[in-house]
Amino acid sequence: MSGDRYVPPGHHRSVAAFREHLRALDPAFDADETLLGAAGPLGAPLRVDGRVIGNRFCVQPMEGWDATTDGGPTARTLRRWAKFGRSGAKLVWGGEAFAVRLDGRANPNQLALGDDDGAALANLRALLGELQRAHREAGFALDDLVVGLQLTHSGRWSRPLGPKAPRTALRHAELDRRVEIADDSTLFRDDELDALALDYARAAVIAKRAGFAFVDVKCCHGYLLHELLGARGRRGPHGGSFENRTRLFRAIVAAIRAAAPGLAIGVRLSVIDVPIHGKDQTSGIGRPLDGEPGAADWYGFGIDAGGRPSLDEPLRFLRELRGLGIRLVNLTIGSPYTCPHAQRPAAYPPSDGYLPPEDPLLSVIRHLRVTREVKRAVPELAIVGTGYSYLQEWLPHVAQHELREGHVDFIGLGRSMLSYPELPADVLRSASLDRRRICRTLSDCTTAPRKGLPSGCYPLDPEYRSSDEAKVLARLKQDAR
Ligand SMILES: Cc1cc2nc3c(=O)[nH]c(=O)nc-3n(C[C@H](O)[C@H](O)[C@H](O)COP(=O)(O)O)c2cc1C
Ligand code: SF4
Repeated sequence: MSGDRYVPPGHHRSVAAFREHLRALDPAFDADETLLGAAGPLGAPLRVDGRVIGNRFCVQPMEGWDATTDGGPTARTLRRWAKFGRSGAKLVWGGEAFAVRLDGRANPNQLALGDDDGAALANLRALLGELQRAHREAGFALDDLVVGLQLTHSGRWSRPLGPKAPRTALRHAELDRRVEIADDSTLFRDDELDALALDYARAAVIAKRAGFAFVDVKCCHGYLLHELLGARGRRGPHGGSFENRTRLFRAIVAAIRAAAPGLAIGVRLSVIDVPIHGKDQTSGIGRPLDGEPGAADWYGFGIDAGGRPSLDEPLRFLRELRGLGIRLVNLTIGSPYTCPHAQRPAAYPPSDGYLPPEDPLLSVIRHLRVTREVKRAVPELAIVGTGYSYLQEWLPHVAQHELREGHVDFIGLGRSMLSYPELPADVLRSASLDRRRICRTLSDCTTAPRKGLPSGCYPLDPEYRSSDEAKVLARLKQDAR
């Protein structure tokens, strides 16, 4: 399956041709013709939470499905964190999702906090140390590098031992069907939710001791805290009203503040959503599940009862963050489980996905637009934008444009950090890219873990391309055709 119904950005021979494509989709968006390198906005430092962040590139959290089964890093995990350090990006958002409990892992090979605090501290020190070593070795100073750790509980999408082991915030016909739930047995009780605040605080204390500058209280991509933000149908103190749905988040922040004073807190937020999508069995194209059982249950955060994106509640939430002393915010959209095209725009879908229902460039524009709206509404927040990898050759041109116009503070890079980690360094040093290494959004890094293999850039990273897993992946993809 390919997305060749739409012209990918890399097919345009010039920035002028790409600009034409972009502006035809939405004239409010544009790209800079000339890159300014480190002398331009991408190279400008920014002070946040008392620390100087040396440039405007941010490595997004990118999980590898390659940790040990007790939650520690393997050589591959360390290698990925070294790549993040080599990138030259001065903000590293979490490295990857770190589960605050073993049973809150999304897969058996996710980094996690087990019973042994000492082991967790050693693991986190090793990861951060490797990232810093690689940063220094690539010629960058450490004093303006800011690294956080992303704290998560996978909630509905938990699979700590492999099989689905969901812990849910609410009942929802379609979502329950996807994780094979038929009753209330997986619902978190209120007291269980309350207790989680201490797990987050424990992880934060260890992250602080290990030297991380901040922790991200992850509220995105369908995982527990994100699901809770949309749990209008839940009864009791954690459901229904906005006040109730944000209660656990506030309790976590308070618990972290008490246990790890001085540690900065960030939030990665799925700031809007789109209706749950599925694959049309005839065309293979994604479509909203209108009319199917449960599809109409109002679920999600930043989406109204009619399925339209709405910033009413997200802006209220983001304004409340200021009152909680939180300034670092990383904006993303939706969830890879319900709307992968919106969450990570791609030319080629992962094995559990569907052909793009819209030009993926429009999906990128959705990210850019909502980021602009938030930055305009709450300018004091330091905002990381998402969704840039699909832009390929023209990523730096759009990034520089958005920064120069003040629409965003940091350019978050996800998949491109797997295929081409030195992208930020190259853009800043020589205002140019090595075209052979640009992520073409082929989605193997998502397909592999869906098939039980570690994630990585199988097409472009030599270590993965030559691995035994690459052969297995090729065979599995062949079988699926
Ligand atoms: C293999 C893979 C692993 C990811 N792991 C995480 C993660 O641990 N935490 C998170 O918040 N997002 C994760 N994401 C989402 C990315 O951070 C990012 O939002 C997404 O890839 C879109 O950005 P891009 O277009 O630059 O790739 C992951 C994405 C991929 C493809
Ligand atoms: S496998 Fe490589 S080229 Fe494909 S989406 Fe992932 S990083 Fe990009």
